[in-house]
Parts: sequence; C-alpha cells; structure tokens
Amino acid sequence: MLNRRDRDYGEWISNLCFAQFRCGRRKVVKIMVEAVNITVRVGVIGCGYWGPNLIRNLVKVPGCRVVAIADERSDRLEAVRHLSGEMKATTDARELVASDSIDAIVIATPISTHFDLAKASLETGKHVLIEKPLTRTSAQAWELIRLARERRRVLMVDHTFIYSGAVRKLQEVIHSGELGDIYYYDSVRLNLGLFQPDVNVLWDLAPHDFSVLTHLLNKTPTRITASGSSPVTWNGWKRESIAYVTVEFDDGMIAHFHVNWLSPVKLRRTLIGGSRKMVVYDHLDTDNQIKIYDKSVEVRSDGDRYKALVQYRTGDLLVPKVDPTEALETACKHFIHCVRTGDRPITDGYAGLRVVELLEAAERSLMLNGTARTYEEQTVKRFLPEHSRAQTG
Ligand SMILES: NC(=O)c1ccc[n+]([C@@H]2O[C@H](COP(=O)([O-])OP(=O)(O)OC[C@H]3O[C@@H](n4cnc5c(N)ncnc54)[C@H](O)[C@@H]3O)[C@@H](O)[C@H]2O)c1
Repeated sequence: MLNRRDRDYGEWISNLCFAQFRCGRRKVVKIMVEAVNITVRVGVIGCGYWGPNLIRNLVKVPGCRVVAIADERSDRLEAVRHLSGEMKATTDARELVASDSIDAIVIATPISTHFDLAKASLETGKHVLIEKPLTRTSAQAWELIRLARERRRVLMVDHTFIYSGAVRKLQEVIHSGELGDIYYYDSVRLNLGLFQPDVNVLWDLAPHDFSVLTHLLNKTPTRITASGSSPVTWNGWKRESIAYVTVEFDDGMIAHFHVNWLSPVKLRRTLIGGSRKMVVYDHLDTDNQIKIYDKSVEVRSDGDRYKALVQYRTGDLLVPKVDPTEALETACKHFIHCVRTGDRPITDGYAGLRVVELLEAAERSLMLNGTARTYEEQTVKRFLPEHSRAQTG
C-alpha cells in the first residue's frame, strides 16, 4: 500500500493533470502520471451475481488493488473471499464510502440503490464505477454527473458490451461504410430470469441494447414505443417480465428489441441490415460472434416504367476475427486507466444518462400501453457544448 506521502503525491499529480488539461498540455502530464505508477485502491459494494465477476477482473488489472468488499449478506462476502487474500469484508457499505484507504468504489447492487451509494462515494472524493443502468431516473444521473465534475472524479457506468471485441469490431465495420445505409437493428435478449426485485425486464436487459445501439450508430432516436406483459407476480410484485421496444429514427431507420425473462433458452442475437451488407451478431457463438453476409436487394427497372424488379444479391459470408478478451476485463482496465490519468471514460456519466433517458421514454410508453413517446435527447441538446469541455463525469 502506498504511504501518505505517496498518496499526496498522487493527488498532486492528479490535480496537475486536470489543470494541464485545460492548458492543452495534458499528454505530457498523462505520461508523468503513468510513470509514477499510482496504485488505485478499490472497494466493491455488492457481491451477489455480478459483483464477483467485477472482483475477479479487477484483481487482474495492473495498478489496481481490491482492498475491501461490502455486502449486506455475510454469506455473499464469504463466497467471494477466495478471489483475493487482501480484501477487508464488511456488511456495512458506509465503511467503504467513508474510508481514507480507498480511492475508487465499484457498485454492483440493485438498481434502486445505485444513486445513494454513488452520491455518497463521490461526496467523499471517490472515483465511481457503477453497474448498468447508471441510475433509476435521469434527474439522479444529472446529479451524479454534476458531483463528479465538481469533485473532479471519474464517473463511469459499466455498459459491458461496449467493451467487447464483438461490438468494437461492429463499430469498425459500420463506420467503414461496409454495410451501406443502415436500415434496421433487431435484437433478441432472452433467458430464464434473473428476475430483479426492484425493476422490470426493460431496466434489466434493455440498457445493453440502448447502449450498444447509441454507441454504434451515434444518432438520436425520435420515437420510442414499448409494450410488455407481467404474467409472473408474487407478494405484490408485478412487473413486466417480457417487453418489446421499437425505436425510430428521423432517417427512417428502425430498431427493435425483444427482452424476456421467461425464455427456456438463452439468446443474445442481433441483426443489423444495411443497404449493401447485413450482419448477424451472436454473442454466445464464441467462434463466430460476427457474420457479415454480402447480401442485399437491388431494385432495377426492366425498361417498362410501370414494372420494377427486386433483385436479390448473394455474395460471400465473412466471419471476422474478434478480440476474445472478456469485455468486463477491458471495462475494468479502462476504469483504472481513467482514474490514473484523468481520461474521460468511453461510457461516462453522459453515456449512462442517455441510456437512462431512453429507458424512461420506453417505460412511459409501456405504462401507456404502447403509445409512442417522443424522445427528446436533452443530453445532447442542452449540454453538449459543456460536455465536450468536461473531462470527467
Ligand atoms: N453488466 C452486466 O452485464 C450485468 C449483469 C448482471 C447484473 N448487472 C447489474 O449489476 C447490479 C447487481 O445485479 P446482480 O444481478 O448482481 O444483483 P444481486 O441481487 O445478485 O446482487 C446484489 C447484491 O448487493 C447486495 N446489496 C444490496 N444493497 C446493498 C447495500 N446497500 N450495501 C451492500 N450490499 C448491498 C445484496 O445483498 C446482493 O448480494 C445491477 O445493477 C445489475 O443491473 C450487470
């Protein structure tokens, strides 16, 4: 562990980094920061289903030490102790939040608890990595962004798929123009459970689709429609376990997600159709995650002006090589890198906010039985100029 003087030095370097950023000499300082090799001491809150995956990956990241874990359930603490010998365990998350020996907090608790834990962590000067979705409301997301900026701390949301080799490859393919104009994006994300006590299937699974869609296409939806059903109820719990979401864009592109906790099989499959080529992305097919089909339709006139012919073009099938590194490992590395250098995370507070706003629009439509909601992207409209200057948040 670094001593007090080392930590003060680290803090000084970090402050210098932010100051230099404004002066445009940030690169030089970044090299200095990496050179002094500051170790980031991390505390993880929530050791249920996903928390252990975060701990397993964080302990592998150079420059990161998981020094403490918290979970209300002591059996969950016991279950993850083997992942690192040096972790102090507690059932009271406030101990981690208040600790002077922790630089960053990673939050993997139910969605309804994200805001309070993240707010308290930022207020005590911690950098924060939160599981998806960032918060339960966009007002809460704004508050965390404001705090992170004020305290000059990193706020990152774990939109895991963005860090996968497959989505990075898809981004490359789409941005190269290989697919042509994108006509549609169609995603199916199903399995049996896991039912969440505090949210419906939309808030559990659709953050993945909204984050991948907005990351890949970088354009703003105009209308969102959602419908769903709640066949499973218990003890007053009645939330949608099946939902269908349609997202429309100004240019005519359409996206559709089917999210479902009541499927006998697990599916994570997305189709992206372009004017030139089409892609099938199957996250579970590890050897062939992305298949690019050189297929399309062409409309030709045969000379008779009243008769157009649709021609079907079929070419090769390409299965590109995809980086097999676990997405969560890349996400954890990226978080630690941002803490050490002051870089802005790819999935920063604004990326988290955008997904929360889309979820809110979908939920409002769900409540109105599938009536379309206009999506006004306040994230971009109101705050983009400020955002482009911000370093964290
Ligand atoms: N990125 C992904 O692919 C992915 C996958 C699954 C879950 N998640 C996210 O991870 C988060 C947790 O989901 P999960 O499935 O692991 O839930 P879970 O219920 O299995 O685990 C949550 C744990 O948090 C603990 N907890 C709750 N409140 C606490 C508090 N105030 N202090 C300390 N501990 C507390 C619970 O005891 C439980 O052990 C959610 O935000 C979920 O959306 C992300």
